[in-house]
Amino acid sequence: MLQRMRIVGGARLEGEIAISGAKNLALPALAAALLTDAPVILSNVPRLCDINSMLCLLDFIGCDIAHRDAHTLEIMLKDTKCTEAPYDFVRKMRASILVLGPLVARFGHAKVSLPGGCAIGARDVDLHIKALELMGAKIELDGGYINAIAAKGLCGCDISFPIVTVTGTENVLMAAVLASGQTRIINAAMEPEVVAFCDLLNRMGAKISGQGTSVLVVDGVKTLGGAEFDISPDRIEAGTYAIAAAVTGGRIRLKNCRYDDLTVFFDTLRETGVCCERNRGDVIVSRGEHDIRPCDVNTAPYPGFPTDLQAQYCVLMSVCSGAAAVTETIFENRFMHIPELARMGATISVHGKTALITGVKKLIGAPVMATDLRASVSLILAGLIADGETIVNRIYHLDRGYETLEQKLSSCGANIQRMAGQR
Ligand code: UD1
Repeated sequence: MLQRMRIVGGARLEGEIAISGAKNLALPALAAALLTDAPVILSNVPRLCDINSMLCLLDFIGCDIAHRDAHTLEIMLKDTKCTEAPYDFVRKMRASILVLGPLVARFGHAKVSLPGGCAIGARDVDLHIKALELMGAKIELDGGYINAIAAKGLCGCDISFPIVTVTGTENVLMAAVLASGQTRIINAAMEPEVVAFCDLLNRMGAKISGQGTSVLVVDGVKTLGGAEFDISPDRIEAGTYAIAAAVTGGRIRLKNCRYDDLTVFFDTLRETGVCCERNRGDVIVSRGEHDIRPCDVNTAPYPGFPTDLQAQYCVLMSVCSGAAAVTETIFENRFMHIPELARMGATISVHGKTALITGVKKLIGAPVMATDLRASVSLILAGLIADGETIVNRIYHLDRGYETLEQKLSSCGANIQRMAGQR
């Protein structure tokens, strides 16, 4: 059923928010269970629609999935029913492409639907495909599907990515751990999720070195075993609530937040006048009465400013005491939140990859429409500081990436409720 979120702005958020496990680590970790016939046990898995989508796909492929508790899952693939990811799964979640590498590596074949919007070519997954071809897979694109065959297994080689790709790096890692010989991934993603993912694979018996650098070296092994693995906290969720504290002039303790995963982000917040203190394993973010100073930002692969926090940061800048330029260098067309923020009174214009934002004193509540996960949450943040009522429609995107968002925000004093239906 369609749902919407109603927010009445104006509350300063004060309190504590426990950060859930990282979606972007849990997704490849679930896919890694396809690499072995032993159980992979994952704890601190966030309860999200994207995780359910991946579990449905793993179930379709033949995995046994047991819920040990609300956030702990045991996954085991003894016998495959098929090595296919049909369109209906991939359409819901692009990260379904993560099953391609492990299926080809372990079973020698896979048929994975192209993600939606890519039917005219495989643009957004072309680097995944090229890498597997270099490793010896024969790949055909047919009827919207990637058909990959590597009857004699994959062979290690040098894969040099022309641009940094997070899931591309993870897919090649999963292909390389069971390939014969050595694979070097050059210009590999260095995101904390990729580093942690290498730790999981190594725990399963893989031989990966270079984690956290731009060159990953993988020595293939014949088989992998199971592992127990704890999903680290979600730095994007943490950054989102940090902005909620900053923008409302409140004070939130982000419980279980790894400061070092977000150094550039917290440095930027400090420049805007927000206080970000490490406190044991937590980070306390507060602003008080100070104005928000403008600060320009360019998104970049890790360790740069995360693209997944760009939309939320635009909300902070929309009420700054000056003008700021926010430049999106990773994704084209990731400014879908801008027209909606403008409807709430923000002064923003988009010039190519850059949004120019001139701060206003107040945003005004309005009915708005969410178009993707991070755009959706940016509209929630805008609603928290807007005068009057904001209704965010089509909030299913939020449930893809934020566990119990409205409970977490209302526990800090936000006036936010989920409502049935859509205007
Ligand atoms: C991952 C994250 C997503 C984040 C993004 C960038 C997951 C599940 N999702 O997405 O939240 O926003 O990293 O940090 O971890 N590209 C190609 N061809 C390819 C692959 C990528 O052209 O084969 C391009 C993309 O269009 C984009 C850029 O490379 O412009 C980076 O994308 P990528 O890092 O691959 O994003 P995802 O891994 O899909």
